[in-house]
Amino acid sequence: MADDYILGNLANEIARLEIQSAFFEPLTRRTLLKAGIKEGMNCLDVGCGAGTVTRMMAQMVGEKGHVTGMDVDENYLLYCQKNSAANTDFIHDDICNSRLAEKNRYFDIIYSRFMFVHLKDMSKAVQSMKRFVKNGGAVVIEELDHAPDSWLCYPENKSVDTLREVYVTLVKKAGGDPFAGRKIYRLLVEESFDASVECNSPCLLMGHEPYNTLGWRIAESLKPQILSFGLLSDQEYTKMYDDLKQLSNDGKSFVTYARFFSIIGRKNS
Ligand SMILES: C[S@@+](CC[C@H](N)C(=O)[O-])C[C@H]1O[C@@H](n2cnc3c(N)ncnc32)[C@H](O)[C@@H]1O
Repeated sequence: MADDYILGNLANEIARLEIQSAFFEPLTRRTLLKAGIKEGMNCLDVGCGAGTVTRMMAQMVGEKGHVTGMDVDENYLLYCQKNSAANTDFIHDDICNSRLAEKNRYFDIIYSRFMFVHLKDMSKAVQSMKRFVKNGGAVVIEELDHAPDSWLCYPENKSVDTLREVYVTLVKKAGGDPFAGRKIYRLLVEESFDASVECNSPCLLMGHEPYNTLGWRIAESLKPQILSFGLLSDQEYTKMYDDLKQLSNDGKSFVTYARFFSIIGRKNS
């Protein structure tokens, strides 16, 4: 189990990852198609979490292809194994210190989403991905960037600001980088990838199930950490949580889901 993944792996967090994945599915599918995913390919999903992207990629590569999901957290892997497709397998590994080389496995596409924010050393992960992708293959990374104005709620809502602030603080405390999204393109160029980058800022419409629940679900996943670090008192946490629940039912509001960066790097040498 990864001690530094601040959102944990409890039932609420798995439900949150599934909802978040459904929300980002169209953007991720588009990015993978742009990267050239096709039937028969052998792919890797790094930091697969609940395995939703692994399953989508497995569908895209078809029965002649194969997708491996990798995660440092064994509890997620157990969940993935129970919900897996025939052309997938799951491995317990840390991309920054990977044992893949021993297994002699190389991939057409290596994908990773929402993991880089949690890494202590992003360069190490990029170098590892470069090692395990075939020449002519692609490394594809999608990551958020939690800049101060990137969780935009209209009308303004103080509890959304508080949640962003505690999230950013907790990511930093765990050694991650809440502004990872903007930094990955540069890392790929430095590793001689032929790279492209896109940025989107998708809107969560309040009053529309299930995406309107993502705010309070993040708060719920973070609760133990928020309280144990004393970032909010019990009373302040409850007020933030109640406000977020109320906001989720306000059909006239929306919140932008940070900034979503999609980076594709083609390995040419
Ligand atoms: C926010 S979840 C994202 C899950 C999934 N990619 C998605 O988009 O729904 C991040 C995942 O990365 C995993 N992770 C964090 N550091 C890792 C590392 N060094 N190597 C492999 N997995 C890692 C965590 O255990 C967690 O499951």
